[in-house]
Amino acid sequence: MLHITEQDLTHHNTLGLKSQARAFLRLESLDMLDALSDVAARYPGVVVLGGGSNVVLASQIDELVIHVETRGADLVDQDPDAVIVEVQAGEPWHHFVASCMEQGWNGLENLALIPGSAGAAPIQNIGAYGVEQNQYFHSLVAWDIRHGRRVEMGPADCLFAYRDSFFKHAEAGRWLILAVRYRLPRAWRAQVSYPDLARHAGIAMAGAAVAPRQVFDAVCEIRRAKLPDPAELANVGSFFKNPLVSAKAYRELRGLHPGIVGYPVEEGKRYKLAAGWMIERCGWKGRRLGSVGMHERQSLVLVNHGGATARDIQVLADVVRAEVATRFGVHLEQEPVEIGTAASEQA
Ligand code: EPU
Repeated sequence: MLHITEQDLTHHNTLGLKSQARAFLRLESLDMLDALSDVAARYPGVVVLGGGSNVVLASQIDELVIHVETRGADLVDQDPDAVIVEVQAGEPWHHFVASCMEQGWNGLENLALIPGSAGAAPIQNIGAYGVEQNQYFHSLVAWDIRHGRRVEMGPADCLFAYRDSFFKHAEAGRWLILAVRYRLPRAWRAQVSYPDLARHAGIAMAGAAVAPRQVFDAVCEIRRAKLPDPAELANVGSFFKNPLVSAKAYRELRGLHPGIVGYPVEEGKRYKLAAGWMIERCGWKGRRLGSVGMHERQSLVLVNHGGATARDIQVLADVVRAEVATRFGVHLEQEPVEIGTAASEQA
């Protein structure tokens, strides 16, 4: 028997939106999966919630909300070159990164302090400071809720791209990620070329002798200085993706806006523009619109100063998007996933 209840989700989303789930299920053990597939069919849909750090929740959710609470990480395989570590989906990502480092399983340091659960990491293909999780991704185990079966997926199945994967485009509510495996090479090489990291005093001083813990500490320090802690100021990290434009479009933009920040990708065929720079130029850094605003130190981060609804978030996002489009001719794509309909907020 599965225990399904109503649940206030206000503390289950880092944007701090007031939201009520009609049906909420804590997934504490994989023994619950068979029963889950039977029960799920009775609801208008299924929503999987991890740390709630990349979602915009409507005030009422009619779908069955599954909160993944499985924890832990283990070494599942090793060879002379690498270890393979499997993390359960409900494990907080940062906790996983820190415990890998304690064990001497290195590689994920640049991804320290990213909020959310490990199961969510492949969905948006989390990345920071020059590393994306797909660089170390080995495979994952998912539950196909519709067909009630366990499926293993490799990198080719997951279609990873910048803040994107198969799961962002798959049938809503079908896939439940149960565990993720990372292949961490024994030969570690620091990846510290990202400007903020290269400039960091601890990294610059250590030079070639830099150790994984120093990278981990530096990333934590940079993030703490720049990005608001959701426990203090509600947010979901970057609210928009950094848009990709052609090299030609980038050159034209540079002509018009000489300071524009962009990085070459795909061997210089395209450029990734810093959306935060454009938002700042539009005057939105630290500016508010009612209860919401763009953060004062990182304008790519939308913050809830208290009492906002999904509708308030959408109004601000639309204004920012429109101003950036008018000034730079660039379309900003939203990063967090919307759950429930923001339209229900209007009433
Ligand atoms: N910038 C500004 N003003 C701003 C923000 C940024 O001018 O308000 C410019 C600066 O020139 C800065 C450059 O943009 O040097 C890049 O800024 P930053 O290093 O903060 O990175 P980002 O491109 O804004 C991305 C990720 C972050 C990740 C950082 C570091 C996306 C959507 N965001 O931000 O990810 O932590 O790089 O790697 O790719 C997240 O996804 O939630 C997130 C925080």
